[in-house]
Amino acid sequence: MAEFVRTGVEGRIGLIALDNPPVNAAGAALRAGLVAALDRLAADPAVEVIALYGEGRSFIAGADIREFGRPSAGPWLPEICNRLESCEKPVVAVLHGAALGGGLEVAIAAHARVAVAGVTLGFPEVTLGILPGAGGTQRAPRLIGVAAALDLITTGRRIGAEEALALGLVDQVTQGDPRAVALAAAGQVLAGRLPTRRTGDIHITPDPEAIEKTAEALKHSQPHLFSPHRCVEAVATAALPLPEGLAEERRLFRLCMDSPQRAGLIHAFFAERAVAKIREATATPRPVGQIGVVGAGTMGSGIATACLLAGYPVVLVEKSPEALARGSAAIARNLDGAVSRGKLRPEARAALSLDTATAAAALSGCDLVIEAVFEDMSVKQAVLSEIELACPGALIATNTSYLDLNEMAQGLDAPENFLGLHFFSPAHVMRLVEVVVAAETQPEVVATGFALARRLGKIAVRAGVCDGFIGNRIMSAYRKAADLMALDGTPIAAIDAAVRGYGFAMGPFEMGDLAGLDIGWAARKRQAATRDPAARYHGALADRLCEAGWFGRKTGRGWYDHSGDGPVPNPEIPRLLREIQAAEGITPRPLDAPDIVARYETAMIMEAARVVEEGIALRPIDVDAVFLFGYGFPRWKGGPLHQADAIGAAEICARIERHALDNPRFWQVPDILRRMARAGGRFADLNRED
Ligand code: 3HC
Ligand code: NAI
Repeated sequence: MAEFVRTGVEGRIGLIALDNPPVNAAGAALRAGLVAALDRLAADPAVEVIALYGEGRSFIAGADIREFGRPSAGPWLPEICNRLESCEKPVVAVLHGAALGGGLEVAIAAHARVAVAGVTLGFPEVTLGILPGAGGTQRAPRLIGVAAALDLITTGRRIGAEEALALGLVDQVTQGDPRAVALAAAGQVLAGRLPTRRTGDIHITPDPEAIEKTAEALKHSQPHLFSPHRCVEAVATAALPLPEGLAEERRLFRLCMDSPQRAGLIHAFFAERAVAKIREATATPRPVGQIGVVGAGTMGSGIATACLLAGYPVVLVEKSPEALARGSAAIARNLDGAVSRGKLRPEARAALSLDTATAAAALSGCDLVIEAVFEDMSVKQAVLSEIELACPGALIATNTSYLDLNEMAQGLDAPENFLGLHFFSPAHVMRLVEVVVAAETQPEVVATGFALARRLGKIAVRAGVCDGFIGNRIMSAYRKAADLMALDGTPIAAIDAAVRGYGFAMGPFEMGDLAGLDIGWAARKRQAATRDPAARYHGALADRLCEAGWFGRKTGRGWYDHSGDGPVPNPEIPRLLREIQAAEGITPRPLDAPDIVARYETAMIMEAARVVEEGIALRPIDVDAVFLFGYGFPRWKGGPLHQADAIGAAEICARIERHALDNPRFWQVPDILRRMARAGGRFADLNRED
């Protein structure tokens, strides 16, 4: 225990140092150590004041999230906070690095708080599907008022030292090493210059208006989520005597802990971090100075923006001068937007380095070149050769959505320097990048892709080569399921509404209209020759729309008509559908919302299982990360394969087999699911670190 929490005595000051790397999470050992330390110093007659601080990077980053949902041992954080508050000697907490969640709750149970500049404070519990469960919902309103506490607790917003001082969450802001600050703060307490008090003794003014306003706003802004509403209910009890409020907080905390949303949100927290643990992590990334981007269309201009915002000098090459001008203007707009949102200082914008050219020779000084030209194998191969000629030895990346990287690399002299960096649109906004590893890609090239993504502030996920890699491949499958439901007579608006009800921001047809139906049409035409003639053709209706020139929002009509105030389903669809159904002998069988989402979700899980089985994704959690950070999968559901575990492999297999009665070509049980169903296995068991 001594290694997690150490005590020392300097004159009249008792020091408690917390030391649980990397972030001082309040796990069982740290909790036990903290109580023992408090007891020891409280009983030491030499000690008149106690100062609590963290070693290393943080004060306390919160409860140990890894313990959630697993057996652990007391003492528990609420008891510790109560023990701290009731301590007969004044206790001052010194906050540096992160004072989050349970860490901030410990701090506000102390009798005074000194923040070290640069500290991040907040109650991120709501982002994990829970609420501050160690007195935060009771003590924060006492310290900073009900409205300010509601804001921090229901948003999970993280704040800095100055804002915390202005709110009254901390008493002082200072600079320096936490131990030295702790000694100085304790000295001030002894000298009567830093007042101390018990937060629980503060009289609170009820604020029913703030409670009502927040509760009402959350009903509209967070209709799917469980814990934000419980946060409000907990804060609403803060005007009660402290023990009663704490008991109600405990009850609500337990409800949140037991909710499946808590498990999903915590899975998402770890997914974001797990994806960096790849087998190439030990390789040394190559240094990247200047970056080249080829193709200044939608993606090229977004990728160039992302690189510029991260401080890289960029050379943008585009064959068409008009497209180059359009791309440069798009980049300028993106950068202006970053300045106006306060993400980029005007002086920093002026210092960014963007060169443009219409010939590949301009790339000669680049260490990495990312191509984002048309999605066409021969165009891409020609462009890759030009790049290699212009900057031999540089890393070359493709942003292709679907094409085969191994075929693309065939003409390269150094295929070991080649990889996929699959960004998502808009590339300077979306957090996901799939790092696609081709047959000859070297480990340090993969590591460079990950390092670049990190510097761009993105989440990189390792993917193998296949049609569509992890994300687009799985998306193609559930899109197909949606198209098949529409052909079977389920109205597209009902499908979109059901998918929104599941938690996506948009349904597949709304999304199609936004992206443009011509893209999918072109892909279906390309694939026509290899289509299975015995399988039901899912694209029949979409083709008819495209043949009529209805490509979605950009043409005013697609799945929906966009000419009026809001989109309404394209009125021609029922007629087109009747024609197709008559020609194909389809008897309409519209589905209701639960059946729609079950099919959509099952199609997603079915293909995701294959992606894991084939090793395209390293682990199930990588698939989940792709969907959480690139496809708008509802975070509180944790990802498609986290959902699969919640549903159970046997039930998924049963669903697929049931759907296979109508369409055996599309619905086929992947072996991995069949094995799991037999053995009672779960995808979570495969989330080992590779
Ligand atoms: N519990 C367990 N592990 C944690 C943790 C926590 N609270 N916070 C971070 N970690 C782990 C991470 O998983 C990571 O592990 P890894 O190296 O094995 O992947 C490691 O610590 C370092 O974390 P980061 O990579 O995120 O490091 P950063 O320096 O980028 O960020 C941080 C540090 C700001 C502290 C960030 O990790 C963070 O935001 N952590 C979560 C904080 C949080 O949500 N706290 C609330 C917990 S709930 C609670 O307190 C309940 C209470 O009310 C009862
Ligand atoms: P786009 O059509 O907007 O832009 C492509 C640009 O490449 C055009 O400006 C074109 O003039 C230029 N170009 C073509 N040949 C060139 C050459 N030889 N040298 C220099 N420039 C050349 O296309 P978009 O949407 O930006 O897509 C580009 C790539 O990114 C494709 O491979 C696509 O599959 C992929 N992608 C697209 C996404 C999207 O949402 N649009 C998402 C992720 C990947």
